[in-house]
Amino acid sequence: MKHEHFMERALELAKKGEGSVSPNPMVGCVLVHNDIIIGEGWHKKFGEAHAEVNAINSVIDKSLIPLSTAYVSLEPCSHFGKTPPCADLLIKEGVSKVVICNTDPNLKVNGNGIQKLKNAGIEVVTGILEEKGSYLNRRFFKSQTSKKPYVILKWAESANGCVANSESKPVQISGDFAQLYSHKWRSNEDAIMVGSKTVINDNPSLSTRYWSGKNPIRVVLFPDIDINAKYQILDQSVKTYVFNKSHSLINGHVEFIKFNVNSNILDFILSELHQRDITSLMVEGGPRLHEMFINNNLYDEIRVFKSKKLIIPEGLNAVTVPKNLLEIENIDLKTDFLRIYSKEFQP
Ligand SMILES: NC(=O)c1ccc[n+]([C@@H]2O[C@H](COP(=O)([O-])OP(=O)(O)OC[C@H]3O[C@@H](n4cnc5c(N)ncnc54)[C@H](OP(=O)(O)O)[C@@H]3O)[C@@H](O)[C@H]2O)c1
Repeated sequence: MKHEHFMERALELAKKGEGSVSPNPMVGCVLVHNDIIIGEGWHKKFGEAHAEVNAINSVIDKSLIPLSTAYVSLEPCSHFGKTPPCADLLIKEGVSKVVICNTDPNLKVNGNGIQKLKNAGIEVVTGILEEKGSYLNRRFFKSQTSKKPYVILKWAESANGCVANSESKPVQISGDFAQLYSHKWRSNEDAIMVGSKTVINDNPSLSTRYWSGKNPIRVVLFPDIDINAKYQILDQSVKTYVFNKSHSLINGHVEFIKFNVNSNILDFILSELHQRDITSLMVEGGPRLHEMFINNNLYDEIRVFKSKKLIIPEGLNAVTVPKNLLEIENIDLKTDFLRIYSKEFQP
């Protein structure tokens, strides 16, 4: 059996941690003896056991571990964090070989885990299904290397390219499947962002009502907010960051963060979010906010629901998807097309 076969399984296990492990990466581990999987594990929740620990604990006949190969989707950690180093565990258990998909860009690891294993005489193979692993953990890699969250711009537009009706009143543009997708996506990202005009016109709660995941942290660009207003985003139900021109104060779950009007606001926002351990941000609109991200080249992915319905009379137009992006998905959802574009990945 090939390395790729077992690494595929390790990545499949890793994905089970989606939405629960951030700001950690998703990691899966498979222990293989004589081409048979004898143990499996994945990192289930932030702060809890790493994949290697869970895989070793799942093995029934522990005497086989020293004769087996560990397939890990990310380089085993070499430092004491919330749990002890996994490289030490694999050395203690005496696995004969470790096969790794991606090295860990976290400066506390960054090759040290691999070196530790090699120093202990363990054979190490790296780079198996590397691109697939980079795509799975794109949020983690982006946040580690650029010190900014991975940014997904998302919107729904009518067949004639509108994101709102002519009265700027709340309107459901996409169908039920699209709503489900949107709420599932919200639960997978650390934070969700909208602009002030969207708050004023739609008064959204930005929750995951149609999916059983966590609600993301809410982020709002609202330069001139009245902090006593009765918007749903200020209802204290979820941690919320409001970037504005005049206030820096914390009121329960709502933090008002003042930005300098003469600085690059989006650079400032993304760096403040990074400092608050946010590795991914889904920007749901409206189009002026999307345009700011596109013009500043501060986005990684775009997801559009293109409805088959027209909005008449026409309202506000969606932004145009930049031409140089890769279209990585195009799915017909009956009432809408879902189109996903990426700057970097071709999964
Ligand atoms: N179909 C969809 O998927 C969808 C999703 C979301 C929203 N919408 C619709 O979109 C409409 C609102 O969209 P919108 O484009 O008018 O507004 P918006 O994107 O909600 O808000 C734009 C935000 O950007 C700020 N801004 C823009 N340029 C700026 C700059 N240079 N410096 C500082 N701040 C800047 C604005 O500040 P100011 O407050 O100072 O102007 C405002 O806070 C709503 O009617 C809503 O229904 C549709």
